[in-house]
Amino acid sequence: MTETLKWWQKTVIYQIYPRSFKDNTGNGIGDLKGIIEKLDYLKELGVETVWFSPFFESPQKDHGYDITNFRAINSEYGTMQDFETLLKKMHDRNMKMVVDFVLNHTSVDHPWFKESASNKDNPKRNWYIWRDGKKSGGKKPPNNWKTMTGGRAWLYYENTNQWVYFHFLPSMIDLNYRNPEVKNEMFNTMRFWLDKGVDGFRLDILHAIYEDEQLRDDKFCFQIFPSDKNTAALFRQHKYDLNLPETYDFSMELRRVMDEYRNPERFLVGEVFGSIEDVRKYYGPNNNGLHTTFLFEFITAAISFKPQKIAKVISRIENSLPSPYTPTYVYGNHDRPRYVSFLKNDVQKAKLLATMQLTLRGVPFIYYGEEIGMPNVKIKLKESQDPIGQKYAKFPISQITSLFGISLTRDGCRTPMQWTPEQNAGFSTNKNVKTWLKVSDTYKKINVEVEEVNPNSLLNCYKKLLKIRNKFDSLQKGELEFLNLGKLNEKCLAFRRIHEAQELNIFLNFSKDSFNLQWSKQDPKLLFSTIPNKNMLEYDSQRNSFKLDGYEGLILE
Ligand code: GLC
Repeated sequence: MTETLKWWQKTVIYQIYPRSFKDNTGNGIGDLKGIIEKLDYLKELGVETVWFSPFFESPQKDHGYDITNFRAINSEYGTMQDFETLLKKMHDRNMKMVVDFVLNHTSVDHPWFKESASNKDNPKRNWYIWRDGKKSGGKKPPNNWKTMTGGRAWLYYENTNQWVYFHFLPSMIDLNYRNPEVKNEMFNTMRFWLDKGVDGFRLDILHAIYEDEQLRDDKFCFQIFPSDKNTAALFRQHKYDLNLPETYDFSMELRRVMDEYRNPERFLVGEVFGSIEDVRKYYGPNNNGLHTTFLFEFITAAISFKPQKIAKVISRIENSLPSPYTPTYVYGNHDRPRYVSFLKNDVQKAKLLATMQLTLRGVPFIYYGEEIGMPNVKIKLKESQDPIGQKYAKFPISQITSLFGISLTRDGCRTPMQWTPEQNAGFSTNKNVKTWLKVSDTYKKINVEVEEVNPNSLLNCYKKLLKIRNKFDSLQKGELEFLNLGKLNEKCLAFRRIHEAQELNIFLNFSKDSFNLQWSKQDPKLLFSTIPNKNMLEYDSQRNSFKLDGYEGLILE
C-alpha cells in the first residue's frame, strides 16, 4: 500500500439521521442547529467524518429521500445559512461532511415530475421513464417488474394513457439517466454542493439507476426476502432493473465529476446491493469508480455472532478488495434494526463487535446511537411513520417477518438520540413536546450523560477504540492477516494488522467460556481489553499463552 493515504481511507464515518439527532427549535423534530450543538460531542467521540441522511426540500413522505428541490434545505431542518454554518464549523474542527445524494428518483411532487406528467409533449417528459401499457388499450403495465418494497413498479396516468416507472415507492419516481439532460442536471447539482465545500456523497440506491432499455420481463425466482447476497425477492429476479452494466459505467462518470475537485479530494460511497463480487464492480476496473461501497453481507455475518461465518465474509472482502481498494464495515443504518438488539442488547457482546469493526481494514461506519447501545424500539405498523410500515400496516405479516429478522417498519432504528436521563432524553429543547417518533423507554439508563461518567460504558469503549484507531498506522493502513487458533477458531477470531514495523494483534472471543490461548510473542503488551479494569496481560512466557475471557475483545501490541 502507498504511504499517502487519502483522508477518507483513514477516517471513521458517523451517520446522522437529522430528524432524530437533536431538536434545537423544540418542535420534536431534529434540525441542523441541533447538530451544530453536538459537534463537540462527535469530535470528542473521535469520529472525523459525518454522513447526513437527506436534509433537502421534501414533503417528507420518505423522510427526505423523496426530494422536491435538490438545491434547497428543508425548512423543518433549517436554512441554507444553517447548512453553511454547520459546514464551516465542521471544517473548523477538521471534520468532513458527506451528504446523502438521491440520484435515482425525485418526489412525485417535484416540479420536474409535475411537468413531465402533464402531457406527452412537455420538455420534461423524457426526464422520467414513460411507456405505453400492454393489451386492453394499454391498461396493463409495460412489463412484470416489481419494486424493492413489493408490488408492481409502474404507475398509470390516465391523462396520457401511459405508465411511469418507479423502483421504490409510488411517491418517488425514477429519473431517466438515458436522457443526457438529466445526467447533466444531476452532475451540476453535485457540483453545486461541492462548490459549497461538501467533502463527499453517499449515493442512495445507486444500483437502481439504469433499467433494461428493452424492458425485458424478469424471471421467477424461489426467494421471498431479499438477502444481502442476492437482489432477488418476492419470487422475482432483478436481472433487468438492478446492477446493469450501464450503472457500473455510471460510477466511473460520477468519479470523474469528483476528480474535478482537489484539495481536498472528494469522496463517494455507494449504497448498492448484491454479492461482494457484484458490488466490487462499482469500484471500477482500475479503482476509477466509487471510492467505496457498503458491504451489507458483513452485517448478516456479524449479527450471527459466529466467528467462522464472520471470518469467511472478511476473507471474501479482502480477496475482492485488496488494498488499495477500500472496503467498509457497517453494522446498521436508518433502514435496518439496530445491531445491539440482535445481540439481545448485551453490552459485553456489543463491545466485542465494536472492537472488531474498529480494528478491521477499511472505513468503519457508526450509526448514531450505536456508540451508546441504543436499542431498536418496537413500533406498531399501525403507528408507523415510515411509508413502508404504513404500506404493510393492513397485512398480518409483521410476526412472520420478525421471525426472519426483518422489520417492516424502519422507525425502530430512527428514534430520537438519547442524550440525558431527562424527559425526552434531552433530545428536544422542549421537554414536553411530542417527539416525531417516541423515545425508547430505555433512555434513563442508556444515554450519553450517564455513559460518559461510567468508565465501563459502551460509550467509553467506543471512545477508547477510536482513539487507538486514530493513533495507530497499522489500523488505518496496515494489511490484515488472520491468525490460526486451531480448534479455537470455532469460538474465536484473531487477526493481525501490520504496517512496516508496527504490528497489532486482535483477539475476539465470541463464546462465554474463557480460554488459555497459545500464542508466542516476545513481551506482548495489552493495549485494550473490553473487560472492565483489565490493565495488564498475564502472559505466561513459559507456556507461551495468555487468558482470554468470555466475550473478551483484546488488542495486543
Ligand atoms: C435507500 C435509503 C432508504 C430510502 C430508499 C429510497 O435505501 O437508505 O432510506 O427509503 O433508498 O430512497
